[in-house]
Amino acid sequence: MTILKILTIPDPRLKHKSSDIEVFNKELKKTVKDMYETLYASGNGIGLAAPQVDIRKRIVVIDLNEDGKSSPITFINPKIIKFSDEKFINQEGCLSVPEYYADVERAKEVEVEWFNDSGVKFKKKLSGLLSICIQHEIDHLDGVLFIDHLSTLKRKMAIQKIKKTKKNIGNNE
Ligand code: NI
Repeated sequence: MTILKILTIPDPRLKHKSSDIEVFNKELKKTVKDMYETLYASGNGIGLAAPQVDIRKRIVVIDLNEDGKSSPITFINPKIIKFSDEKFINQEGCLSVPEYYADVERAKEVEVEWFNDSGVKFKKKLSGLLSICIQHEIDHLDGVLFIDHLSTLKRKMAIQKIKKTKKNIGNNE
């Protein structure tokens, strides 16, 4: 397994739209394993989308790790087929937007269709933290970051803050 490098803003590669997985093969399973390894190595992440590690494919791994209990779910080609009218606001963060958190409004529940890495299809209604997380991760597959849901001013502040942090640690990528 390999720990992959996580892209951070303002890397333009985070803005691309990812394409569907068409073949469920060994290579896909290896990518999924590497993504979990990368997620767990991050220490505080609960979800990772493939474009965050420069793979332009519709793959998402989530492990909410609630009460210290690991519960990984792999979403291949996830698609939201229904958003609840009811919304809620929660604080979000992102491994590609380090050390920045902000309130984002999302649908409270979503009905999602997806495949696992063996090509088995699922369809479920997701709520709570899992609902927020899958909406956040599917956004990544479409080149959208959680800060894109904020006002222009707040978004600029987030980008400035992250640029400054990168400079301080001598990382000018
Ligand atoms: Ni994210």
